[in-house]
Amino acid sequence: MTPDEPRPALPRSPVPAAAGDADSRDYFRKIHETYQKSAERGDILGVHERIKKAIGPQLGGLVLDIGSSGVPDFQTDATRTVISFDYVFESLRDSPAKAVWSVAGDMHALPFAAGCLDRIIIQYVIHYVTEKRFGESLRGVRTIMAEMSRALKKGGSIHLVDSTTFPILEIAQRALYGLSFTSLKALDKPMVYIFSAKTLCRLLADQGLAPRSIRTVEWGEMRVAGQSVFPGLRFPLKYTPVRCRIITAVKS
Ligand SMILES: C[S@@+](CC[C@H](N)C(=O)[O-])C[C@H]1O[C@@H](n2cnc3c(N)ncnc32)[C@H](O)[C@@H]1O
Repeated sequence: MTPDEPRPALPRSPVPAAAGDADSRDYFRKIHETYQKSAERGDILGVHERIKKAIGPQLGGLVLDIGSSGVPDFQTDATRTVISFDYVFESLRDSPAKAVWSVAGDMHALPFAAGCLDRIIIQYVIHYVTEKRFGESLRGVRTIMAEMSRALKKGGSIHLVDSTTFPILEIAQRALYGLSFTSLKALDKPMVYIFSAKTLCRLLADQGLAPRSIRTVEWGEMRVAGQSVFPGLRFPLKYTPVRCRIITAVKS
């Protein structure tokens, strides 16, 4: 888009003020520079490039990248505008991705009018939507999915990219939820909960986002086992029960 082209109207959302976990926001603010630098590492960059190669041809029109951290750049020849969206202003300010618009806000209350977006990308974000109790976390995820559904055009699509695990390991995480939450808080780290692709598909479908495909992105040589939470931890991700999946769903 050229500077003279009119900007698409992005009226304010009628939804109430955002929720969001202030501790997690402070954490992401604190690590934003290290996170942006780590995304330039060859093994991590390789995963980002494979994701862009997979979803790039399906992007077009007005694209919203939720929880971008200012890192990925999804601009393609077919996209009119890519909006890089995050609740950490500093991540957007220091972003190396220049061909995007930056909008700071909380994804629990997207500041976009109903039906205005063609595509949404939400990459490595959902597993951080966590509260003290699992039930509250699930409510948060449902709120965000409802928001994405509201802002998406009919026939528009969402690419949910995230680490996923097997259904049986979801049950184990739930059993250990309180203990994990307390332990991570004691270490000043945000809680993480990794869904199975099956649960994510169900949650999307509940909000009128019909899953159309689930693709696996190879970890390749990626060895950073916790890019945000434990950046120093090295272990080849391909040997873990965690898979990077792209779930594409269409608004019915
Ligand atoms: C692990 S980073 C993912 C960054 C990027 N999508 C990528 O693929 O590398 C998660 C990002 O989500 C953002 N985030 C977390 N909760 C959010 C919320 N409620 N609203 C907006 N952004 C949020 C964080 O600030 C952080 O930048």
